[in-house]
Amino acid sequence: MSVNLTINNLPATVEADTTVLAAAATVGIKIPTLCHFNNISSPGSCRVCLVEIEGMRTLQPACVTTVSEGMMVKTTSKAARDARRLSVELLLANHPWDCNACVRNNECELQDLAKEMGITEVRFPYEKDEIPIDDSTPALVRDMNKCILCRRCVSVCQDVQGVSTLAAKDRGFDTVIGTGASDSLGEEVCVQCGQCSAVCPVGAIYEKDSIEAVWAELDNPKKHVVVQTAPAIRAALGECFGLEPGHCVTGKMVTALRMMGFDKVFDTNFSADLTIIEEGHELLGRLKTALVDKGEVNLPMFTSCSPGWINFMEYFYPQLLPNLSTCKSPQQMFGAMAKSYYAELEGIAPEDITVVSIMPCTAKKYECTRDEMYDSGYQDVDYVLTTRELGRMISEAGVDFLNLPDSEQDSPMGMSTGAADIFANTGGVMEAAIRTVYEVVTGRELPMEKLHIAPVMGLKGLKEASLTFEDCVDDWKFLEGVTANVCVAHGLKNARKACDMVASGEANYHFIEVMCCPGGCIGGGGQPRFTTDEVREARIKAIYAEDEGRKIRKSHENPAITQIYETFLKKPLGEKSHKLLHTHYHAKKIDD
Ligand code: FES
Repeated sequence: MSVNLTINNLPATVEADTTVLAAAATVGIKIPTLCHFNNISSPGSCRVCLVEIEGMRTLQPACVTTVSEGMMVKTTSKAARDARRLSVELLLANHPWDCNACVRNNECELQDLAKEMGITEVRFPYEKDEIPIDDSTPALVRDMNKCILCRRCVSVCQDVQGVSTLAAKDRGFDTVIGTGASDSLGEEVCVQCGQCSAVCPVGAIYEKDSIEAVWAELDNPKKHVVVQTAPAIRAALGECFGLEPGHCVTGKMVTALRMMGFDKVFDTNFSADLTIIEEGHELLGRLKTALVDKGEVNLPMFTSCSPGWINFMEYFYPQLLPNLSTCKSPQQMFGAMAKSYYAELEGIAPEDITVVSIMPCTAKKYECTRDEMYDSGYQDVDYVLTTRELGRMISEAGVDFLNLPDSEQDSPMGMSTGAADIFANTGGVMEAAIRTVYEVVTGRELPMEKLHIAPVMGLKGLKEASLTFEDCVDDWKFLEGVTANVCVAHGLKNARKACDMVASGEANYHFIEVMCCPGGCIGGGGQPRFTTDEVREARIKAIYAEDEGRKIRKSHENPAITQIYETFLKKPLGEKSHKLLHTHYHAKKIDD
């Protein structure tokens, strides 16, 4: 049902359950907001969006007030302007004024509002006690001195990720956003996905910065510093320099990294292709055990690329850990190969190689410190920078990013395919796996027009597809007529649904892709802010365009991968692969 109202004397017609905030937007009126964030969070707590509504005794928050027939709204009356300004002043009175030294300087919504409202001084004294900074995890830092209690982080942690680490504690003036009994993320069940840091409007939660450490490695003449960039970075890094979402900047990114002093610019796409070979064979092996040997086997198999998802499984579904692929993530496969295969190839001592990763994900900072990630004999990946950190580092280097010429990654660990590109988005690992598994099992080429698997594409939380094998080659004859059912989940709340279906026996899947963050890595917690569904869609479109523009679009056709099996690994799931590329995870308790 439609409703007619006026906003600042402009007529508007909107659906009945529309908020005043959304109705105002339809007639080009922007009402300031702070606690409201897209369709994720709207607790109505900050009072920055107050408006006057004729007939109502008090001003109303536009973000939670719904329209009604004949409603007359004024957003620009003195009462509304003064009240909104007072709300911002009160927030500023409780906020340290150290903007220049803040990680969010110039991208802080509170700072923007103060500027928009012309607030240059605060009338009220700052009287808060100093709260210790929580830097207890390798991934995230919480500075509750800067928290404005907007609760966006609480909403994303509870409602989107279903983890519920963060919650409002205590009441009234004593309210803080806490993490349970310890007030330390490192001692609580936190998967370190960083989605909280991706929505925080101020500098209260942010990624732990490794920029200085990476500069120190680049400055050290004894170190041979190689960098890998995750597939999702290329579709988002341009946003750090003002590009609209949806531009791939692969070539400029490579040029910038070289200019900053990295000795070799490689690509996590290379190890994404390697993952497909190892994971595809692992899946086929499990299917063979089930169908031919009639042995005990853990199906469905879950993907294991996403460290936030691994953390989630270790905490919440340890009984399903045997179903997890033993493949390490592409980041960690790359690190182990860099300090073994590449070190041997180039005659460089592994201890002299520093591996830096550029990742869309804060949990990757944690992943590289895990005990399981030293299989080269050294820490396989030394440092992880998020896309946001790389953006800051490029700016600090004085690189005119948007005007850089394109260049290509170095060989051999920079060579990759379109299948690896699409690891960046939800459904991409599944699609890449199907491209390879189909051709391996049938010996036939998958036609170009069938490379995209439409049912697993898009932003639906849980997606399903089926694939029936026909005319299989001799080695895989046991799959003749078998229908493989697959599922794709992204965002941990959806992952929980998939896990519950498997745990209860309700699901009949063979293979499940799970990505921790909504949209997959393109929506990772370390990506440029803010990631809305529109931004996710634009980045995904750019990634698919990158895939479609490639000459080689299937992982098993990557010549560098073929060579690595011929000269080093010998065969998928072989002895070297097991040592370097596979691992096992373990159940975690809260204090692990
Ligand atoms: Fe409406 Fe915070 S944005 S109350």
